[in-house]
Amino acid sequence: MSIKRNTSLQFIKNFFDTGAIKETSREVELEICQRIPTDRDVIVVEFGMGHGNITQEILSTITPGSKVYAFEVVEEFCDHVKEIIQDDRLVIVNDSAENIKQHISFPIDSVISSIPFSFFSEAKGTTIIQDSYDLLKDGAVYSQVLLTKFNFKKFEAVFEECGMVKLPNFPSEYVYHCQKKVKR
Ligand SMILES: C[S@@+](CC[C@H](N)C(=O)[O-])C[C@H]1O[C@@H](n2cnc3c(N)ncnc32)[C@H](O)[C@@H]1O
Repeated sequence: MSIKRNTSLQFIKNFFDTGAIKETSREVELEICQRIPTDRDVIVVEFGMGHGNITQEILSTITPGSKVYAFEVVEEFCDHVKEIIQDDRLVIVNDSAENIKQHISFPIDSVISSIPFSFFSEAKGTTIIQDSYDLLKDGAVYSQVLLTKFNFKKFEAVFEECGMVKLPNFPSEYVYHCQKKVKR
């Protein structure tokens, strides 16, 4: 049985998880992958895989020896992506980003995230950002897309270097790029 579905309908049905009524734009897919290293094999963690649009872009950016661990809380989104993306580099984790340390215990090169921070408690948001920071290698970048600037300060409180790119879409989309300091 085919499980191909209308993405917007599925997003609306799961609105309290997705925090969105449609997929992020093509501009976001390109911008959010800008800081993934392409000159070596890497381990990328994705938060909020949804129907896999950004996942596809990550897979086309990274080398053949790299890996992506994609976290997603909605089981039917995980099933959908398992059906549409067959790539040995992709590991789908049907769990919340806040449990990252239960699944990943090795250094990572990049975090690519589209989870809806505005829907999270302060404590949950801080745990996700701090645990990601702890696992990232020195100099590595956490990139996050959101529809507002308001969560930027939560990232600035943890990461040493943060920048924000506003994409000219409606509604506005902001990509935060936050880098862990290189220790000398
Ligand atoms: C705004 S949608 C983005 C989906 C897709 N990546 C895109 O760019 O269109 C957010 C996704 O994050 C998932 N999500 C929400 N909270 C999450 C959490 N704590 N951990 C992992 N995924 C989560 C939602 O189910 C949804 O698929």
